[in-house]
Amino acid sequence: MENGDIERAGRLILAGKYVVSLTGAGISVESGIRPFRGPGGLWTEYGEPPMNGYQRFLADPKASWERRVKREGYNRELHEGLRKAQPNPAHYALAELEELRVLRYLITQNIDNLHRVAGSKKIAEIHGNLSKLRCIQCNSRYEPEEISLETLPPRCPRCGGIIKGDTVMFGEPIPADVLEVCQEEVSKCDCMLLVGTSAFVYPAAGFPWQVKGKEGMLIEVNPYETELTPFCNISLRSKAGEVLPRLVECIKVKLQETGSPL
Ligand code: APR
Repeated sequence: MENGDIERAGRLILAGKYVVSLTGAGISVESGIRPFRGPGGLWTEYGEPPMNGYQRFLADPKASWERRVKREGYNRELHEGLRKAQPNPAHYALAELEELRVLRYLITQNIDNLHRVAGSKKIAEIHGNLSKLRCIQCNSRYEPEEISLETLPPRCPRCGGIIKGDTVMFGEPIPADVLEVCQEEVSKCDCMLLVGTSAFVYPAAGFPWQVKGKEGMLIEVNPYETELTPFCNISLRSKAGEVLPRLVECIKVKLQETGSPL
């Protein structure tokens, strides 16, 4: 990756009228959380989980909760890593771009809550948030301490529906309220910053194509090539935690040069 690439990426982002970022597991690798695919991926080691996780939950929510409470296999490893993790410079860089009003919205596929901890506010967690629970009937979200696990599966205090973890299981539809916000933001987006995603899982993986379809710009940050790389205007072949802070510095210099308030 040449210095000129960061310059060009900074110019493209500042030329964007409505910049949205789509992030994936790769942005949290430098926080000690393994990605799912590619080198060091959880699925690479354990194999992809069954694609009918949600149907299995619905078939026996009590048993699914008992498994959740017991935590075994990759689930234990995933939760251990998530519990200890802290945001890294890449998370803080995106929060700063939001503060500078350069980044208008952030869609993350990550369930690790690290973007929020880093200070991002305009954010949609399309695959849910590990630290929350959700009613599958009325979509109400709850903090774990609000829900008693005396009887399993726990029930929604508002509508009596079944409560599950807020994270979206394979085979589960994305909650309508979150999907609507994502589609609203992507419809306004003319420049998308893709950070640490293999762009493999839909509907999130469709968002870059929507932007491309209306001749928007795609900027990718990933140490490895992805299926999207050939379609990106710039692909920064680097770790997010190393390149995003440099990109923010480059953008701040340009904003100062144009006399924009920081
Ligand atoms: N910085 C940036 N990108 C990185 C880094 C890093 N330090 N390390 C790895 N990557 C890249 C990998 O090269 C890979 O392309 O991050 C990407 C992670 O891809 P996946 O593991 O497939 O993660 P993601 O795209 O978020 O997966 C989507 O799949 O399994 C489901 O629900 C899960 O949300 C997840 C979804």
